[in-house]
Formats: sequence, structure tokens, C-alpha cells
Amino acid sequence: MSEFRRLNAGRRKFLQDGAAVGGAAALAGLVPSIAMAQGAGKVKIGMMLPYSGTYAQLGVAITNGFKLAIQENGGKLGGRDIEYVTLDDESEPSKGADNANRLVNRDKVDVLVGTVHSGVQMGMVKIARESGVLHIIPNAGVEAATAQLCAPNIFRTSFANGQPAYPMGKVAVDKGIKSVVTLAWKYGAGEESVNGFKENFVRHGGKIVKELWVPFPNVEFQAVLTEIAALKPDGVFVFFAGGGAAKFVRDWQAAGLKGKIALMGAGFLTDGILEAVGGAAEGIETTLHYGDGIETPKNKAFRLAYAKAFKLQPDVYAVQGYDAGLLLAAGMKAVKGDIGKKKEIIAAMEKVEIDSPRGKWRMSTAHNPIQDIYLRKVVGLENRVIGVAQRALDYPPASKCKMPPH
Ligand code: BEZ
Repeated sequence: MSEFRRLNAGRRKFLQDGAAVGGAAALAGLVPSIAMAQGAGKVKIGMMLPYSGTYAQLGVAITNGFKLAIQENGGKLGGRDIEYVTLDDESEPSKGADNANRLVNRDKVDVLVGTVHSGVQMGMVKIARESGVLHIIPNAGVEAATAQLCAPNIFRTSFANGQPAYPMGKVAVDKGIKSVVTLAWKYGAGEESVNGFKENFVRHGGKIVKELWVPFPNVEFQAVLTEIAALKPDGVFVFFAGGGAAKFVRDWQAAGLKGKIALMGAGFLTDGILEAVGGAAEGIETTLHYGDGIETPKNKAFRLAYAKAFKLQPDVYAVQGYDAGLLLAAGMKAVKGDIGKKKEIIAAMEKVEIDSPRGKWRMSTAHNPIQDIYLRKVVGLENRVIGVAQRALDYPPASKCKMPPH
């Protein structure tokens, strides 16, 4: 028997034994029910996120958002206390599956939360599919996770990579931008983000002049900026995030391109970086499923609570982490903390409406958010919402997922 199957068999036996003991104890009047016996232990949550490297700030924001949601839920899930097991995945795809395997099969987490980087995510999806562990993706947009590789136990509270980029294609054409150079980190997220933009831009009559790539997590942009200056397109669509996005926005201004060529992207380009770039991002327009100044009581309360708890301004990553906490809380509430009732937890997570700072949203049948994509503009230290680029976007369509019966 493989190590993996042996561990799972051991886990099943433990649950069966636990049920038998719980039943006998209940009969003896010691413990009213197995649900209470399980309710007594802590829910173990594996947080596998980047806490170092170019995406470190994203990992921290997601963790903060998740913990804020749990804190607002009385610090518990379905009445049970929580134990966190935290692992820095370093945005390193080659270690993704091994790290996820450690959390699931060595540390025996009940829920696996993570991650940011699409390449690392593929390893997590593999382990989640093999083990059946409840898995919530709070950022990484790799489309396969909620398309070809979708599974009942895998949920995403963020986006699929092309989803926030797709509406920008029409926004660009409507602004009179006819020719575009695309530029992105050369890995899944960059490729799928560019594809989403390109699909809609070309559909509306735009022309892609050239596709440029930089290896992840390289931030040496001088050569591509020189090439863009020579090509003189109307616009440039980019995918960079975190520390890399901050460096790119500063370099764009230093190269003298700001105000000459329209710079656009999915909103990762300007989210969470505005203090660091000191005005270099002013005026940049992007599309994303969140904006700082959404005028709802929910968003205002969230921003206040987050700033008070962490002495930081929240961003889209914090919102995605917060929504992951809300989603799990809804699932655990439905079973009063009995993590063994996975079918019921999944059913509750499938039907809940998440009252998010981004606006209310629900899961598609592929377990990816169906959500509004906002058009935002950087004004001072704010990614200000200036319109809705596309309402209730389900992208890629949920029909790409043949969800196994559950
Ligand atoms: C990704 O790798 O999926 C990703 C990373 C940062 C921001 C958006 C997407």
C-alpha cells in the first residue's frame, strides 16, 4: 500500500473508531452526541501562502482577512476553536505538491487554505483532489482549478485569471485604444490574464501588436520598456502583482512612458502598492472585482475593522481572504462544527450568498465566484471605482467544469 493510501486508511479508521466511542459514550450518558464529541476538538486549518518573496504582502493580507472574518464569527467555526498551521510556500511551484501533502497527510489539517501563485496552486489542487480535503483558494486564478480540474471539495473565493482581465478588452476599445502590446510574467497567471484581455479586445476590433514576456519573478524591465517605446502602441496591457507591480509602475514613470502610452491591466497592477509607489500610479485605470471606495456599509465596516486590527489598509487580497473565512464559517455553521459531515458542508458552501466588501456574490456550479468587475482609477492612495465594467461575470463559463456528482 502506498504511503498516501496508508495514511488515508489510518485517518478513516480513526474516524470510525471515534464514532464508535462517541456512540457508546452517548449511550452511557457521558456525551450527548458524536457532534459534541467532535465539537470539543479544534478545527485545524492549514494556511499555505507566500510569506516571503514578491508575493509576501499578498499572503499576509489574505491571512489577515481570513482571521478577521473568523474573529467576527466569535473566533470559532461552528462553535469550535481553531488551530492554524502556517506554511510559507515561497511562490515556488516545484514545492507546491510536497508542501500541501505535508499539511494534509503529516499535519492532518481539516481544511487547506491557499494560495497566491497559480503554479503552486496546481500542486495544491492535485493533493486536494487525491485526499478529498476541503480546500479554499483565496487568490490563485489558475483556470483549471475551477474548470477541467474542478472537484466538489475545491472552492475559490477570488477569480479565474482571465476573469478580471476580460472586461478591460472592451473598456480599451471604448476609450479609442486600437493597438496594444501585452506584457506579463511568463507563467500561468500572466498567460491566462493576457488571454482574457486579448479575447475581448480582439472581439471588439482591437489589434495586438506584440506579446512580451518576463520570467517570474524577474523585475528587470528596462529591455521591454525600451522595446515598447520603439513600438509606440496606443496602449499596454500588463500582468504584474505585489512587489513586481510596484517596481514596474515606478519604472514605467522613470522611462518617461507615463502619459504617453495608456497603461492598463487587471487591477493587481495597482492593488496594495499605492503607498509604495508614491504617486507613480496616479490615473492608471484597471478592472477588478474590488475597489477601495465601494460605498456600501459592508465595505466601510470591513475597511475600518481591518485598519483597526492590523494598522494597514486592506486591498483585494485581504477581501479574498476575508471571504474565504466567511465561506468556511457558513459551511461549518450548517453542520454545527462537525467537520466529518463534508457533504453537508459542501452543500452549504455551494448555496451561501457571501456578503462581501466587494458586493454580494455566489459560487458558480464550478465553485468560482460569479461577480461584478469594476472599472477603477488610481486617485491619490485609492483605487477608486468609476464604473462597473461587467456585471455578474462567470468566466471561464462554469460549463467548462464537469463537476463529479456529490
Ligand atoms: C496567480 O498566480 O494566480 C496570481 C498571483 C497574483 C495576483 C493574481 C494572480
